[in-house]
Formats: sequence, structure tokens, C-alpha cells
Amino acid sequence: MTDDYTPRPEHKFSFGLWTVGWQGVDPFGVATRDPLDPVETVHKLAELGAYGVTFHDDDLIPFGAAEDDRERRIAAFRKALDETGLVVPMATTNLFAHPVFKDGGLTANDRDVRRFALRKILRNLDLAAELGAHTYVLWGGREGSESPAAKDVRAALDRYAEGLNVLCAYVKERGYNIRFALEPKPNEPRGDILLPTIGHALAFISELEHSEMVGLNPEVGHEQMAGMSVVHGYAQALWHGKLFHIDLNGQTGPRYDQDFRFGNGDVKSAFFLVDLLEHGGYDGPRHFDFKPARTEDYSGVWASAAGCMRNYLILAERARAFRADPEVQEALAASRVDELSVPTLADGESLDDLRAEEFDVAEAAARGMHFERLDQLALEHLFGAR
Ligand code: GCO
Ligand code: MN
Ligand code: MN
Repeated sequence: MTDDYTPRPEHKFSFGLWTVGWQGVDPFGVATRDPLDPVETVHKLAELGAYGVTFHDDDLIPFGAAEDDRERRIAAFRKALDETGLVVPMATTNLFAHPVFKDGGLTANDRDVRRFALRKILRNLDLAAELGAHTYVLWGGREGSESPAAKDVRAALDRYAEGLNVLCAYVKERGYNIRFALEPKPNEPRGDILLPTIGHALAFISELEHSEMVGLNPEVGHEQMAGMSVVHGYAQALWHGKLFHIDLNGQTGPRYDQDFRFGNGDVKSAFFLVDLLEHGGYDGPRHFDFKPARTEDYSGVWASAAGCMRNYLILAERARAFRADPEVQEALAASRVDELSVPTLADGESLDDLRAEEFDVAEAAARGMHFERLDQLALEHLFGAR
């Protein structure tokens, strides 16, 4: 495919090793695909036009591997990166798969488990820095509970903050060019996960010792699982200067974590999210965290990865066309969308001036906003009808 929707490295598309490498194990069934070699993944992603690959420590080096095995695997991965020019923009730690983390990592009730979790992060952080990553994600899938009796949430947040304070201090001491990104999710695998939404995570970050080093890695599906507006959430993270990294995928409303390829699921949210990312000042990686359906063989897996990127580029082109359409510009003006950028009080204006102002309430109340027409134009661009 050599149309305008062909992914190229400058588009900054990246994928986790665990995404295309997902073998299809779910709570009801065993694997439907054989394991994928990370070296093959790197070559295949480069061929498809991606620029980056991300990983959990255990995706690259099996849990508990011997030191020489670890070194061998890292060397092979590094060689594949050198051969393809793929970069590692982000890395993360698996603190959820091994049974030792059944009650969490940084917020496990068991103190020795928390200490082990911290050691596991520190070790992979060194590797992340060596491989040139600038973002280190923390998704606390097991940080939570099934019963409020089992978790002292305030103590858990103390320990979460303690963990991040230690990690930030370590990164500073080492001089690594790395920032942390928390990934909110409301539930699954725990009944309730700590820091369930973008808003919870933002409030938590403001309590940290090095809050400037900690931001967010929001995931499309996770916000929808919580019944939240993805576009509003990402926009607020941008507003706080906290949109450090993103996980793009697809979801249809609040239910289990579907992890569809990007573009499948809520297409309208995907359209407006791409519009926001392209025109709202986000210049980080376009990172996909999805699960190619377990119905697929590897040809389907690669088709699904290619589909994520192609859908992003199609939506980016649709968003550009929407913004450039003179009728849309006129509709935006009719809806007074720009007027929201004008401060409510003028420079130097006093509250007495405000009080003294004449205002025709009936006239203002009767004014139509014309949002329906504007939204219809957006849909027509999305549908390809304009
Ligand atoms: C999930 C999460 C994970 C994380 C990953 C990186 O719901 O399983 O989205 O895929 O993104 O662990 O931190
Ligand atoms: Mn997810
Ligand atoms: Mn994710």
C-alpha cells in the first residue's frame, strides 16, 4: 500500500512487545498462537513502518532467567534495533503476572513483596536508560483489592507515593533522561484498581516529591471502561502538561478491557482524539496497546498492527479535512467555539464594571448554539461524505 496512509517512522508509531506478542490466553481459553521472538517482532514492526518498540522486562527476559541468558537476549534485541533503526521510547515493569504480585507490587500488603517490586523496577529502569527510553510507564494492574476490608487505601497511597519518590530520586541521581507515566485503569485484573482514572492519577501526582517528573500514560479503553470521555480526559492531561505518553486502542463502552486495534470500537471518540493529538500539541509517540483478536494467526496479527497505524493516519487526514473545510470554519464561528478562549474579564476590568454591565437575559437565553450542525459536519467528514 503506497497511498497517503502508509506509516513511516516520522509518524512515531510504536508497539509493545506484549501486544503483537499476545498469544491469546484469556480467562476462558489457552493460547491460540505460538510465542513470538522479540527479534522477529522488531524486524516486522520496522517493515510495517513503525518507529518504536516498547517492553515489560518479562517480555524480553523471562522472569527468573539466568544472568548469561539475560545478556544474550538483550544483545539479540539490541542487534535487531541497530539493524532496523527502531528505537525504544518507553519501557515498563511486569508487576502483575507472577503469583508473588497477586496483591500488588508497590502497594502489596506484604512489605517484602514491595521491596522485591522496587528492585525489579530499578533493574529494568537501568536497562530502559541503556536502550535510550525517555518514558517509564507504571500500570498498577494488581495495585488494588476485591474487598475494602483487605486494603487500607490511604496507607496504599502512602506506599505508592513512597515508591515513586524513591524512583524519581534514583533517576535524578543517575542522571537518566527519564520521566514516569502512570497508567490509570478502573478495574481488571483487580476488582478495583488504585488511581482508577486520569483525574485520580493527576491529583495523586500533585502530592509527590518530584511531581514534575511524573505524568500520565492514559489508555483509550481504560477511560471508556470507567464511563469517561476519552477526549476530555486526554485534553485535561495535556492542559496540565502531563500527557507524557499514550496507549491507543479500541473499546465499546464500559465492559471488560477489549483492547481492540485502534479504530475499532468507538470511532467517533477515535476521530476527535486524533484531532486533539494532531492539533493540540502532543508530540510524543503514537503508541498502540492492543490485543490482536485470538481468532487470528500471525498474518492476522500483522494485519491488525498495520490497521492500527493506517486507521490513525486516515483519522488524521479526516481531522485535517474537517479543520480546513470553510463550511466547518463558518460553523465553528456560528457556535462561538473560539469565544471560549477570550477571558471572561477584560485586562484590568473591575468587578464594579462587571456589575454595571447591561445584559439582555432573554436575548441570550434565546440564542441557538448550532452545535448539531457542527457535529453533523464532523460526522460527515468522519464518514468520508465530505
Ligand atoms: C492492561 C494495560 C497494560 C499496560 C502495560 C504497560 O490493561 O493490560 O493496558 O497493557 O499498558 O502493562 O504498562
Ligand atoms: Mn488495557
Ligand atoms: Mn495500556
